[in-house]
Amino acid sequence: MCRRLAADLHAAGFRSDRLRELWGSAADAAIGRGDALPARRAFARDDHPLATIARLFGIGDPVPAEAVAAAFPATGVAGLEALGAVARDGGMLHPQLLIRPQDWVDDTGAGQWWIASDLDEAALHGALPEDHVLGVGGASLTLAGLQLPVPTGRVLDLGTGCGIQALRARLFADAVVATDVSARALAITRLNALLNGVDGIDVRLGDMFAPVDGELFDRVVSNPPFVITPRTDEMPAYEYRDGGRIGDGVVASFVETVGRVLAPGGVAQLLGNWETKDGVDGLNRVRQWVAASGIPLDAWVIERERLDPVAYAQLWIRDAGTLPGSPEYDRMLGAWLDDFEARGVSEIGFGYVLLRRATGSARLARYERVLQPVAEAGLGAALARSLDAWDRVSGMDDAAVAASVLLTAPDVTEARHHLPGAEAPSVIELHQGGGFARVLEADPALAALVGACDGDLAVGVLIDAIAQLLDADAAALRADLVPRVRELLFIGMLRFAD
Ligand SMILES: C[S@@+](CC[C@H](N)C(=O)[O-])C[C@H]1O[C@@H](n2cnc3c(N)ncnc32)[C@H](O)[C@@H]1O
Repeated sequence: MCRRLAADLHAAGFRSDRLRELWGSAADAAIGRGDALPARRAFARDDHPLATIARLFGIGDPVPAEAVAAAFPATGVAGLEALGAVARDGGMLHPQLLIRPQDWVDDTGAGQWWIASDLDEAALHGALPEDHVLGVGGASLTLAGLQLPVPTGRVLDLGTGCGIQALRARLFADAVVATDVSARALAITRLNALLNGVDGIDVRLGDMFAPVDGELFDRVVSNPPFVITPRTDEMPAYEYRDGGRIGDGVVASFVETVGRVLAPGGVAQLLGNWETKDGVDGLNRVRQWVAASGIPLDAWVIERERLDPVAYAQLWIRDAGTLPGSPEYDRMLGAWLDDFEARGVSEIGFGYVLLRRATGSARLARYERVLQPVAEAGLGAALARSLDAWDRVSGMDDAAVAASVLLTAPDVTEARHHLPGAEAPSVIELHQGGGFARVLEADPALAALVGACDGDLAVGVLIDAIAQLLDADAAALRADLVPRVRELLFIGMLRFAD
């Protein structure tokens, strides 16, 4: 039946580009913000199959049964009912799911899936039920973009929801195990795998790591239910975002435990929140969780955002469809602020965690804030390159780094800022076009070195020449520049020529 549904969606041209054409880019963006009205207006009078499908599954509006029958000739109304995708009410069919096209694009190519999920607030015209199965949101796309686009063996997707991470992982993995505490989420993941003709995704029900006890994975990906929620009776317990623990306990327990299911060299990637609590900075608390893992782990933790308790509570109250001005909103905001106050929480960080079961004696331990906007689609490749560079450079002493021949990455540019009328720049910056879009302040020696790395001469030879040019001590310049070369290799502004 799923194959027939896929055939109907395909025949109608149910793709993102066609939908954008149909309802326009402004309406498309509004849908992303949970507002379906502009799209609804755009095809109010259209009754061709694409408009019918967009209305029924793209937005979640009821549609007359005859129009649905015409739009789904292979599946038929009975087939859609059997799949649980629609429910009949007289002559109208009410969607029970959303199904939306989802594009993906990365260094390895481009493609598209159809992703089924539960009806959202716009379709329900109100707050979400507690067992809601989330569609593809901003966080889903962030983690999907972060996944290392490198062939691998077995992957665990913990908290799979609609299965977007599992589908993404399967592009590179031999097999995927997708787990969730929600049986409905697993049914939707199975539906999405079938709809997209993807095999090799094994779905399992259960809490956190329980469904995979005793197994090892080469990769673990998780957009876990990390939202910090006050544990009071009157708060809705949203399965899709709240793991039922106190504070940031879900992320803490994930970080402390994941090493047990990682094969040596295996990588875990997750999103999470961490609290700055009793004066201990959030990133330092993550460092403590990593240290508490019985398994030695490399860690690269990137904080992307920090919110105060009020802004954090507002974000998540609105996210589930409760708007300011209602008694419900005020009650929830009060509960959130009471909880943060009682537990000594002053700030909440959000970011990306990459952990790797360590195989050697050197440990990657990088905890940083990266706040500038980045193009998330290409980040997975950048992470993979950084890990490769770290593996190589952490095994080299300074003499070996100086003997390396390097290339400046093609996305690096230099900006020089001069005081008006001054000949020499007062600030030189190196800008990274891709990756984390880092901007690094450089002195003339470092700028000269980066400019000279063209795959010809070894770093040490270049440093000696720069020392001569700047009338500086060559040994001192090496001692200064080699550690910075290590950093530039890690962040991807420099690459090994071979
Ligand atoms: C934020 S959603 C992520 C969904 C999907 N992976 C994505 O990236 O869009 C978190 C998922 O974790 C599931 N979940 C909640 N509590 C869990 C638990 N204790 N163990 C495993 N999964 C859980 C929820 O049902 C939900 O599907």
